[in-house]
Amino acid sequence: MAITLVIGAQWGDEGKGRIVDFLAAGADVVGRFGGGANAGHTVRVGDKTYKLRIVPSGVLAGALDCIIGPGTVVSLDQFVEELRSLGAAGIDVSRVWLSDLAHVLLPYHIEQDRAAERARGDAALGTTGNGIGPAYVDRVARRGMRAGDLRDRARVRAIVERRCAELAREGIGADAAAIVARIEEHGPMVVPHIRDTVALLHDALRAGKRVIAEGAQGALLDVTFGTYPYVTSSSTVAGGAGAGLGFGPTAVEHVIGVAKAYATRVGAGPFPSELLDDVGERMRERGAEYGTVTGRARRTGWIDTVALRYVAAVNGLTHLAITKLDVLDGFDQVCMCTGYDGAPDASLPFQMSAPVKPVLRRFAGWTQPTTGARAYGELPPQARAYLDALAADVGVPISYVSVGPERSQIIVREDAPAKALASRA
Ligand code: IMP
Repeated sequence: MAITLVIGAQWGDEGKGRIVDFLAAGADVVGRFGGGANAGHTVRVGDKTYKLRIVPSGVLAGALDCIIGPGTVVSLDQFVEELRSLGAAGIDVSRVWLSDLAHVLLPYHIEQDRAAERARGDAALGTTGNGIGPAYVDRVARRGMRAGDLRDRARVRAIVERRCAELAREGIGADAAAIVARIEEHGPMVVPHIRDTVALLHDALRAGKRVIAEGAQGALLDVTFGTYPYVTSSSTVAGGAGAGLGFGPTAVEHVIGVAKAYATRVGAGPFPSELLDDVGERMRERGAEYGTVTGRARRTGWIDTVALRYVAAVNGLTHLAITKLDVLDGFDQVCMCTGYDGAPDASLPFQMSAPVKPVLRRFAGWTQPTTGARAYGELPPQARAYLDALAADVGVPISYVSVGPERSQIIVREDAPAKALASRA
């Protein structure tokens, strides 16, 4: 079986899209397993930059089947806009498939998300405001609309009208007729992309094709294992991939955890290794750490190996991909948070609402730019010392290191079992 999972190992924005784009050149199918337009993948190909929110990053790598899986919640407005802009940029979207089991995120979910955030006041979660939580609530409450329902106009109308009537009783105004009209307007563009993606995926697996499951967000935003309640509403960990695309654990070959060489977080919630000083500011500026979806400045800090060990365990990581190493070029020293003062480091503390104090391990920085390195041995010795210590501390080998935004700036290590996949690029 040949599924490679690509999982965010921090709080999202780790550069999964780039790693998937790179690996996808050697794969046949790429599938997104969760989330929706809260994700934002920035992928640079040549002199063009693409911002993807729902369509898997693999679409940029050529004629692949790209699946938006059963575990996702999809805004039709966003999906249509993305299909149009990719098409206008000359990208072939004819093999982008929306699972008939995926849920449709409707305008009132966005209203509900924003209203809930306003009501939380100072305790707001800092959601992306894309309606993700309410869409998953409707799925679990068994009143959602699935993409397959879009083929049946009467069914669409019935679901929207029933839900709008319920919302009206809760004091939330939603115009059922306008929502239905909008869905019908999108129909001709969306319906040809709807498909039984479970069958497609398993046909591909039976034919010996290579499949990549692309995570959205990061493991620390997982609804169960993340820093609850400052999390998203879907399962972002490896276990969620099978549940979100429709395969079992025996189908998985590799689990690649993607982490930045430092750490970032958007929205509220614990971030023990956060830097609130000019070092953090420098990371933000050098790394252009502003959200793809919301434009919000990302919080920045040192890489956290307590969290990464936890993430490695929960996801069964077999490899690490470390991105944006070049952002740390020129720092006098770089640090790694390897423990929390007074807290057991076997796992993440249940509640990190009280600030936990990071225990920092310090490393000499490097002045020589890493951006030109094409092999691990070409990295400055201080950078290698930092990465070697990171791999040893987390207990997972680092198989990919990115040193810039180009496809050519991803160093693939000789021992990377996924090298075979990448080398077909
Ligand atoms: P939601 O997913 O919009 O409900 O947001 C919940 C939390 O997850 C907030 O802290 C968001 O900033 C965060 N979040 C959701 N999607 C992403 C992402 O793709 N990257 C980084 N953070 C995200």
